[in-house]
Parts: sequence; structure tokens; C-alpha cells
Amino acid sequence: MSEELLRLEHLSIDYKVKGGYLSAVNDVNLSVNRGEILAVVGESGCGKSTIAHSIMNLLPGGNEEVEGKILFKGEDLRKYSRKQMEAIRGKDIGMIFQNPLDSLNPVYKTGKQVEEAILLDGIDRVQAWNKVLELYKDVKMPDAEVRANSFPHELSGGMRQRVMIAMMLSRNPELLIADEPTTALDVTIEAQILEIIKDLKKTYDTAIMLITHNFGLVAEVADKIAVMYAGEVIEYGDVFEIFEKPLHPYTTLLMKALPRKTKHEGRLQTIDGNVPRILDKKPGCRFANRCPYAMEKCMENTPPEVFVSEEHKCRCFLLEEQAEGKEAAE
Ligand SMILES: Nc1ncnc2c1ncn2[C@@H]1O[C@H](COP(=O)(O)OP(=O)(O)OP(=O)(O)O)[C@@H](O)[C@H]1O
Ligand code: SF4
Ligand SMILES: [Mg+2]
Repeated sequence: MSEELLRLEHLSIDYKVKGGYLSAVNDVNLSVNRGEILAVVGESGCGKSTIAHSIMNLLPGGNEEVEGKILFKGEDLRKYSRKQMEAIRGKDIGMIFQNPLDSLNPVYKTGKQVEEAILLDGIDRVQAWNKVLELYKDVKMPDAEVRANSFPHELSGGMRQRVMIAMMLSRNPELLIADEPTTALDVTIEAQILEIIKDLKKTYDTAIMLITHNFGLVAEVADKIAVMYAGEVIEYGDVFEIFEKPLHPYTTLLMKALPRKTKHEGRLQTIDGNVPRILDKKPGCRFANRCPYAMEKCMENTPPEVFVSEEHKCRCFLLEEQAEGKEAAE
């Protein structure tokens, strides 16, 4: 089995907001191995970016409370000083942010910004600029030289996303966190960006956490999947196993909502109701108000994570019921 790079253990994050503590992430356990793509899928507000930012130690600071472990190569990043985190950010763990405009400086040409990242590795300016142009070609940037000399606002969304990926490639991190790298891009560009991400995994053995709303594209790119609902991972494991045999009622509904032909349109808003905003967490299944199978105990108790195989786990009382039913039949 390949080396485990990232492991989240019992990660919980609450934001202090007006009226109490918002439970954005609750008891999340997952891992990503070298050369593996883990897709983290879930509706808007389910805590995906909060997880990503916590790994990078980029939570806003001030109003959040974090519990649990964020292990990178066995070391708990939560114990790292700001200086230690700065040293590994970009170099060991890279991130493509949800909104590339936020992460590109508007007053510098894009090529210069990528060049700065390369110069951190002690290369001279001429070599660095040539490397920028090479990287722009690697990410299939149209008119590489012109775009390297353009400001962020002069580029399209897809081009900005390519700049971000070029910046990532320049440092060649062991773990890449890509937060919705293709949202707001059209289907053709989305497919190209995903190809680049897949190449990255193949060529450099990079471990990738791919955060997305788009359930449809997950099957094409990911090895493992973590399905999130209201801050919790409700189903997790091997992508084929989950697509073949989803166990959680939410995952099953998502599968049913997937259009058969147009795979790139598998967005998640197709299920009735909204993800609840959990203020001051209390026991109970967070999906209960939308679940067709909700039982009394689902309202009062929190379902535990149950492993159904080495690589597949699920948070739902139905598994217990089934196991009990089996036992009674035996
Ligand atoms: N700084 C903050 N202070 C208070 N609440 C926050 C803060 N940042 C995020 N939240 C809340 O935490 C929850 C999770 O937000 P997060 O951005 O992690 O969701 P997401 O899954 O990335 O959503 P999207 O798909 O829309 O990007 C949401 O309810 C959000 O409103
Ligand atoms: S625990 Fe209960 S409410 Fe939650 S998903 Fe399972 S059956 Fe539905
Ligand atoms: Mg987000």
C-alpha cells in the first residue's frame, strides 16, 4: 500500500457566530495516500473549504475552535508554529483556492507571480522566467508569453485557474488541495483542468484532495471519495465501491440525481430541502429532516461511523438495523 501523506483524525471545527457556535466540521476522519486522488463532495456550506483551510492553517483566526488531529506524514500540523507552517505551505502542501482572483495579486502580471514562487527555490531570474513559460505551456495556456505578461483581470476564469496550477506545479508539492478548481468554468475547460490534475498525479505521484460540488466528475478522476453532509463525512471509501453500492440514503439520492448522459451536470442541488446550519451541536443524525428512512433514534442519537469493509465506511443507523436483522435471521 502506498504511503499515507495526510490523515485527519476526529477533526471538528466550530465558528463562533451570533447566537452560538456553528458546527462547520464535525468528527471528520479521512486520509490521502501518495499518488491518490480523494474527492471531497458535498453541497454548498457543508464544510469543504473549512477543512481545506484548516489543513493549511489558513482559517480566519479569532472565531474558530478546532479539535482533533491534522497529520501530515505522521506529524500533527496543529502543533506547528506559524514559521513551520509557512515553510511547508506551497512547497510540501499546495492549494488551489476556490476563487483564484482572491489568491492572485491584482497589481502584478501573472507570470511575475509564478516567477516569485520559483525564485523561492533559489533559481536566477532568467532561468525562472523560462520556467514560467514552460509551465504555462504545461498547463496549456493559450499564447503563453502574452498571458504571462497579463494582469489577473485580463485573463478568463479558466486561464486564472491555469496560472494557479502553474504556480502549484512550480513548487511540485507532495500534497495538493484543490478547492473547487473547475467551478464556474465551462465543461470543455473543466475537462482540460481535470486532465492536468490527473497528469500531476501520474507524473509526480502527487496526493490530491479534490474538493467539488460536482458528483458527476468524481467517478472519472478520483480513487476515493468522502461524501459530506452538514459538516460530517457520511460515507467514505473506494470510489468504485461507493458508486456500485452506495449505503447512506444521502449518497443514494445523489446517485439517483445524477444525469445518465451528461456526466458534467451532476451538481448536487437536485435533492429537495436544504443542508441544515447546525448551531450548538446536539445529538441526532444531521440528515434526518431530509431522510426518507428516518427513525426515532435518528432524531435523538448521532449515528457512528461503521466500517463495512476495509475501505468503505458509512454513518447511518440503517447499517445497525440491517446487522441486527441479519443476526436475528441467523
Ligand atoms: N469565518 C467564518 N465565520 C463563521 N462562519 C463561517 C466562516 N467560514 C465559513 N463559515 C460557515 O461554515 C460553514 C461551512 O462553510 P465552508 O465555506 O467550509 O463550506 P463549503 O462546503 O466550502 O461551501 P461551498 O461549496 O459553498 O464553497 C457554512 O455554514 C459557512 O457559512
Ligand atoms: S441515521 Fe437515520 S436519518 Fe440518518 S441517514 Fe440513516 S436512516 Fe436516515
Ligand atoms: Mg468552499
